[in-house]
Amino acid sequence: MHDTLLLFGATGDLSQRYLFPSLVHLWRDRLLPAGFRIVAVGRQELSDDEFRAWLREHMAGEVADDPALVEDLLSKIAYVSVDLRDETSIAAALSKYADGPSVSYLATPPDLFVHCANGLKAAGLLEGESRLVLEKPIGRDLASAREINAALRACLDESRIFRIDHYLGKAAVQNLLALRLGNTLLEAVWEHRWIESVDILVAETAGVDGREGYYAGYGALRDMVQNHMLQLLALIAMEPPSVLDADSIRDEKRKVLRALRPMSRDDVAARTVRGRYDAGVVEGRAVKGFVHESTVETFVAVETYIDNWRWAGVPFRLVTGKRLAERATEVVVSFRPTSHWLFERPRRGRERPNRLRMRLQPDETIELGLMGSLAAPEWGAMELKPMSLDLSMSGSPQRRIAYERLLVDALRGNQTLFVRDDEVEAAWQWIDSIEGAWSQTEQPALDYPAGSWGPAEAERFLPPTNGYKSGGGSA
Ligand code: BG6
Repeated sequence: MHDTLLLFGATGDLSQRYLFPSLVHLWRDRLLPAGFRIVAVGRQELSDDEFRAWLREHMAGEVADDPALVEDLLSKIAYVSVDLRDETSIAAALSKYADGPSVSYLATPPDLFVHCANGLKAAGLLEGESRLVLEKPIGRDLASAREINAALRACLDESRIFRIDHYLGKAAVQNLLALRLGNTLLEAVWEHRWIESVDILVAETAGVDGREGYYAGYGALRDMVQNHMLQLLALIAMEPPSVLDADSIRDEKRKVLRALRPMSRDDVAARTVRGRYDAGVVEGRAVKGFVHESTVETFVAVETYIDNWRWAGVPFRLVTGKRLAERATEVVVSFRPTSHWLFERPRRGRERPNRLRMRLQPDETIELGLMGSLAAPEWGAMELKPMSLDLSMSGSPQRRIAYERLLVDALRGNQTLFVRDDEVEAAWQWIDSIEGAWSQTEQPALDYPAGSWGPAEAERFLPPTNGYKSGGGSA
């Protein structure tokens, strides 16, 4: 395990909210090496002590839990202030840390990736076994992603590049893979002959909140679908790899991403909805709308197909949005009706198809919808009713922040939960087809009230569970 972490973007939102708290937890649980040190790199001019004071203030919760632990970790941090566009200054400021293999983590906007990588290379910090970790988004479209990937490959080998998608670090997402690949029951039916549709929903109650600058250049499609949602889709739809090593899984995910049917301008109006939240009430609190001169969407619904043998003709519906009625991440697999229906009550066509609903956030539950008749048919006719087998995972151990797992994997050199260059590019290629069709047809972002399930036009894209109703809150 490497013991030096260089963290670029150390005073940024991600570092303060997730990365440093993750490091505190890992340090508490003795999951970091004894000689661990952190070089925090940022633009702001701060001394080591000033940076530590800033961090203490921004990690008040951690400090309250265990002040001594936080102080112990703070003592391992050195702060370096440098202009992240100036490669020569980066090299000069950091070369003294090139005394052994290290992990450099770029928690910065993508337009700084290449400057930082070049500076690190010049400092000798990408040699030998050293690794580079990058936050999403990798670029803004296929062309910019390719440029970044090519520039990175000029600095170090792909086997030492770790692209983060924090959804892959979530235990619930790993459980999705375990359920899918560890059960004969599902292996037997996991294809178009038995599955009618797949829904993936990532609903947030949070708004853009303070990230307007970044978000206005991206929108929901690029911010959430290109990465988190396509990774979920790929894990659900990929062929089982023959072994669980990093490249075997990533090969299979890439094949799925490349088989996604590109969106055409003729299809885009029927198969997508763009939305943008207006003022409303979320979780009992009045909130403002997203007001910005850019026309980006804060909600997107897409119906797509994976053009291969396993998934021919099965719609995959992806829906994500900010300021929706509830926070919920779930995958719903709807099965086809039974081949022959024997019952009068309900009549054929009125039965509810079997559904597997895997809820990943905020709570973790698995629900299997079945038809059954628990009451004995003493009065002659048998009446079937929808029933549900529920498995609550609430008794599972305390969940870690997704970044904890990913930081440990990066320090150890395990790439399984990181995204490879060709996966990122395949995802952008499909996203570009949607962005292109939207701009050719000038598809507008429709207003929806904050606290609803999105524009009314998106209703048919919402999962067929829970009575989701767009345009006006949950039913
Ligand atoms: C980030 C997006 O990658 O994921 C955010 O940039 C989004 O806009 C966040 O809010 C959602 O992550 P989680 O873990 O809260 O579901």
